[in-house]
Amino acid sequence: MKTKTIFVCTKCGATHPKWQGQCAGCEEWNSLEEASVPRKGTQFTSGYGEGYSGALTAITRLSEVKAQASQRTSTGMAEFDRVLGGGLVPGSVVLMGGDPGAGKSTLLLQMAGKLASREPCLYVSGEESIQQIAGRAVRLGMADSQINLASLTSVGQIAEVVQRERPEIVVIDSIQVVHADDVESVPGSVTQVRECAARLTRLAKQQDCTFVLVGHVTKEGNLAGPKVLEHIIDCFVMLDSPPGSRYRTLRGVKNRFGAVNELGVFAMTDKGLREVLNPSAIFLERSGEPAAGSVVTVTWEGTRPLLVEIQALVDDVQGGYPRRVAVGLDAQRLAMHLAIMHRHCGVSLADQDVFANVTGGVRVGETAVDLALLVAVYSSFRNRPLPRDLVVFGELGLTGEIRPVPNGQERIHEVQKHGFTRVLAPTANRAKRPIAGIEVAFVKTLSDALDTLSNMLG
Ligand code: TYD
Ligand code: MG
Repeated sequence: MKTKTIFVCTKCGATHPKWQGQCAGCEEWNSLEEASVPRKGTQFTSGYGEGYSGALTAITRLSEVKAQASQRTSTGMAEFDRVLGGGLVPGSVVLMGGDPGAGKSTLLLQMAGKLASREPCLYVSGEESIQQIAGRAVRLGMADSQINLASLTSVGQIAEVVQRERPEIVVIDSIQVVHADDVESVPGSVTQVRECAARLTRLAKQQDCTFVLVGHVTKEGNLAGPKVLEHIIDCFVMLDSPPGSRYRTLRGVKNRFGAVNELGVFAMTDKGLREVLNPSAIFLERSGEPAAGSVVTVTWEGTRPLLVEIQALVDDVQGGYPRRVAVGLDAQRLAMHLAIMHRHCGVSLADQDVFANVTGGVRVGETAVDLALLVAVYSSFRNRPLPRDLVVFGELGLTGEIRPVPNGQERIHEVQKHGFTRVLAPTANRAKRPIAGIEVAFVKTLSDALDTLSNMLG
C-alpha cells in the first residue's frame, strides 16, 4: 500500500501536509507529529470515488429495523456503572484516561476481579510484569481470582490470544505501550496509538467482546492523541486525581450508549479504590467555626445532586493588576460575575485580588453555581461569615437577573436531607408546594440576593 507522510497535532488531531511550529487548528506550539496514511485511491480503483467497493450495498428502512436493547454487563461497581450509563456494552471499546498514579490499573484490576467469577476476563498489561500484577492483586484481597493475565505489547499477539481464548472483557493497560509491528513509528506516537486502537476496535466488534483501554494523560494534560482516538472508541471516561486528595472522580467525556455528565466518586485506600456512595458527605467536611467566604451549593452531576463547598478570598491587590483565580470553577465566569456585581449592585472589587476554590478538588462546570460563587466572594469582601445552615444556588445573567436552574426541587430536597434549613434560590424555581422543614428565600435579581444576605450575615 502506498503511503504519504502527514503531520498530526497530538492535541486537537488536525492534520497538516508540512511540519510547522504551531498547529493551525488549536494554535498549540510544538504539538505536530509525523504520521503516515494511505495515499488516496490506492485501494479503490473503481473510478466512482473513495468508499465505493463495486459491490451492491444493501440499504434498510429504519422503521423495519428491530432495535436491540443492548444488554449491559455490570462492572460490579455501581459508581463505575453509572458513569458508563448502566454497565459495559458487549462489543464496545471504552477508553479510560487519567494521570499516572490516578488508579486506573487498580480500578480496572478490581473490576476484572469482580467480573472474572462470572465471565472470562483477560487483563493484558504491557507496563507491569505478571508478578507485579499478582502482587497488587494480593494487596487488593483478590489473590484467588479467575482473571487471565498476559504481559503483551504487540497488537498482533493480543489479537491472537483474544481469538483463541474468547474472553468477554479485555483490559489493555495501556494503549500507549501497544504497537503494531508493521507500522513504522514508536509506541505511544499518534500513528501507533491510532492504528492499534483501530485494530482492537475491529477485534471487539468481530468477537463481540468489550475492550477497556487505559490511556495516560501526558504532562501537557492531553491524552496522547485523545482527538485521534475519540471517533474510534465508543466511550471515554476520565479518572481525575486532585493533588493531595485520596478521592478520585470518574467522569464520562464521551458515551455512545448513555449520558456523559455522570460523576462517580472513589476513595483510594490501602486496599484499592473504594466506592463513595454518599459523595456530598465527603465534599462537605467543614471545620467547626463559621468563616467568611465559605458557602455550600448544590450542583447536579448527571442524574444526582452533589453538595459542595465554595470558598472565596478577597484581599487588597498585591502589586500590579488585580488577580482573578478560580480553581475547580470557570475563571472567565468569575470575572464576568464581578462585572455584574459592580454594574448592578455598585460593589466594586477593582482594587482587590479574588481567589475562588471548590473544596475537595471537584470541578464544577455548571452555571447553577454562579450565585453561590458570588455570595462567597461577597461574604469574604465584607469579612462576615454566612449562616452554616444556608445553601445557595442559581444562575446569573448579564442583566443582573437570577435565572432558574434544572432540577430545582430535587436540589432543595437534597439540601434538606443533609440537614440544612435555609436556601437562597431563583424565583423561577419556586415549587407549587413548599418543602417542609426548609425555609427558601426566592430571589429575582442579584441585588435582591445581596439584600437578603445582608440580613443574614453574622
Ligand atoms: P495505579 O493503579 O498504578 O495508577 P495508574 O495505573 O493510574 O498509573 O495506582 C497507583 C497509586 O495508587 C499508587 O500511588 C499507589 C496507590 N495505591 C493505593 O494507595 N492502594 C492500593 O491498594 C493500590 C493498589 C494502589
Ligand atoms: Mg497503571
